[in-house]
Amino acid sequence: MDDRIVTDKEILIESDIQKNLRPKRFHDYIGQSKLKEKMQIFIEAAKRRESCMDHILLYGPPGLGKTTLAGVIANEMNVSLKITSGPVLDKAGDLAAILTSLEENDILFIDEIHRLNTSVEEILYPAMEDGELDIIIGKGPAARSIRIELPRFTLIGATTRVGLLSSPLRDRFGVTHRMDYYNNLELMEIIIRGAKVLDVAIDKEGASEIAKRSRGTPRIANRFLKRVRDYSEIRGNGIITRKTVLETLELLGVDKDGLDELDRGIILSIIKNYNGGPVGIETLSLMLGEDKRTIEEVYEPYLVKKGYIKRTPRGRMITEKARKHFEVKE
Ligand code: ADE
Repeated sequence: MDDRIVTDKEILIESDIQKNLRPKRFHDYIGQSKLKEKMQIFIEAAKRRESCMDHILLYGPPGLGKTTLAGVIANEMNVSLKITSGPVLDKAGDLAAILTSLEENDILFIDEIHRLNTSVEEILYPAMEDGELDIIIGKGPAARSIRIELPRFTLIGATTRVGLLSSPLRDRFGVTHRMDYYNNLELMEIIIRGAKVLDVAIDKEGASEIAKRSRGTPRIANRFLKRVRDYSEIRGNGIITRKTVLETLELLGVDKDGLDELDRGIILSIIKNYNGGPVGIETLSLMLGEDKRTIEEVYEPYLVKKGYIKRTPRGRMITEKARKHFEVKE
C-alpha cells in the first residue's frame, strides 16, 4: 500500500489488492495517451517552477481511473494526496478541516464533485482562487468571519456528470479533461499487467476475452480478472484461459458484449413494456427497482456509447442494434 495516499472511509473499503493493481507512475499507466501527455508536460512545468499544478477537472464514466490518475500525479510530483468525495463533505467545516491539513503543493482529490452542497462549494471558490479560507464562527449578531491563508494546493475534481457542475466551479479549473473508454488492446495490457501483480498465469486469448467483455473500463476488467482467477484455481489448473474466462462470465451473467443482468433488464423492459420507447428515467428506475442515478451514471453511458439505447427529449428509446441483439438471444 502506498503510504502517501491518505484515504477516507469510503475509499478504505477497497481491498489492498485493488490498490496494488493501480499503477503508481505514468510508465505503468496504460491508455489515455492524450491526457498522459498533457499531464506530463504540466507536471514538468510545475516542478521546474517549484510550484504546484493548476486545478484539474476530470470527467467521464465511472471506473476509468480518475482516482488512479490523481495518485499517479501525486507520485510524479512527489507530494501527498488526500482523497475525499462530494457527498462525504457534508458541512463547510468538513472541507475547512481538510483544507487546513494540507501541506504546500499537496493534491486534494474530490470525487463526485458535482454532489458538493452549496455551502461547501462556496468556501471552495476562494480556496481555489486565492488560497484563502473564509469561515464564519458563531451565530447571529456574534458571528464573525475569519480568514485563513492556505498553503498552495492542487484540487483534482472528478465527476461522472460534468453538466451538473455550477459554472463558477467549472470555471475555476485550469485544466478540464474528458476521460474516454479504453479500447480492447489497452484493456488487454491492463489485464496482463494485473495478472502479473496478482501472480496468476494468463494466456493471450484469456486476456482478450476478458477485455472484450469489460465495457471499456479498467475497474471492470480488474474485477473480472480476480473472479476468473478464483474460478481457474478451483475449477481449472490455475491458469486463466479463454475457456475459464467464458465459464466464469457465464456464471456471472455477463454476455459477449459485457452486458449484465441490469443492462439486459433496461433494454428488455423498454422493448417489452414500452414497445421500444420512449420511456422516462423515473419510470425505468421504478420498473427495475434500481436507483435512478445508478442507471444514469453507470449503465446508460455504455449502452448509449455502444448504440443500444438513445436518449431523446421524450425519454430513452432502444435501437435496431438492441432489438437484433435480443431477438437472436431471447
Ligand atoms: N488500472 C486501472 N487503470 C489503469 C490504467 N490506466 N493503466 C494500468 N492499470 C490500470
